[in-house]
Amino acid sequence: MFMQSENIPLFPEQASTFAWQVDYLFFYITAICLFFGLGVVLVVLAFAYKYKEQKKFASPRNIHGSLVLEFTWTAIPFVLAMSIFVLGTIVFHNLYSMPQDATEIFVVGKQWMWKFQHGTGQREINELHVPVGRKIKLTMTTEDVIHDVYIPAFRTKADVVPGRFTYLWFEATKPGKYRLFCAEYCGLNHSGMGGWVYVMEQKDFDSWLSGTDADKTPVQAGEDLFNNKLGCASCHAGGDTQRGAKLEGIFGKEVKLVGGNTAQRDEQYLRNSILNPGGQVVEGYQPIMPTFKGQVTEEQLVSLVAYIRSLSPDAASAPSTGSGNGTGTETESEDKAGDDQGDK
Ligand code: CUA
Repeated sequence: MFMQSENIPLFPEQASTFAWQVDYLFFYITAICLFFGLGVVLVVLAFAYKYKEQKKFASPRNIHGSLVLEFTWTAIPFVLAMSIFVLGTIVFHNLYSMPQDATEIFVVGKQWMWKFQHGTGQREINELHVPVGRKIKLTMTTEDVIHDVYIPAFRTKADVVPGRFTYLWFEATKPGKYRLFCAEYCGLNHSGMGGWVYVMEQKDFDSWLSGTDADKTPVQAGEDLFNNKLGCASCHAGGDTQRGAKLEGIFGKEVKLVGGNTAQRDEQYLRNSILNPGGQVVEGYQPIMPTFKGQVTEEQLVSLVAYIRSLSPDAASAPSTGSGNGTGTETESEDKAGDDQGDK
């Protein structure tokens, strides 16, 4: 129906229950504006042409009072204005009255990322997985400045305000991948503060939520965690919006840390970086990564480390001490990561 390009659709898809209502209201108001706008312009041009001989029409006929005329030009705009008001109120009510039977997901905005938490405890960053055909309610707040959740395909958006909760709800109507934007200017990387909403069939969503990876190798499971479940890729994988340290080809190499120390990037280093990111910030990067302590299991940590290691094919055969496997919790070496890197 509408012209679409891969990245910038002229008109976004309709993918929520109330998307069509917003669109009809939009087209209705646009049609009224076009009708009167074009009408006035055409009449102005027509009269300018018709009455161009000034002298002939120097003193036009005066009209003194016309009840019919006055009534008509009052009634028509009144009815139109009220129709816009009533329809607008109905659509607004549909968008912003929270349904009672919705599944709640918590949202925290932060310069410059979105953090989501499901009722089951599953967390995501810059990605939101939801089931199709179910009412989802977002309870939202922010750690710093005002942000704004905007999902064009769902035709809904709402400010996210520090110090209070705001709410948004939607029911997605078709599985797919839809853009999520921050729609409130919030500083340097505002334009990069976006992500994706994944709408999944219920059974896919259930298996996503339970995170069953039984048939995957650690590298595959880690890749899935990295790209989908934990949203690491939104900061650590290429492109203009990369805010986190590059991970390709780094394994086994030394790195300079903020504060002047260096560290050997081995399994233990990766593990510490995931659990205590502030402890060893790579030179040239901001300490913005949130901790994943308590959010990933030891099994998932092993998979993540295996995946990140696989990004450095040259170093894949480098010392694999196995220290990341389950028993590494007692080492608290992040404060002196650069000094103490011998085999334990
Ligand atoms: Cu957050 Cu703009």
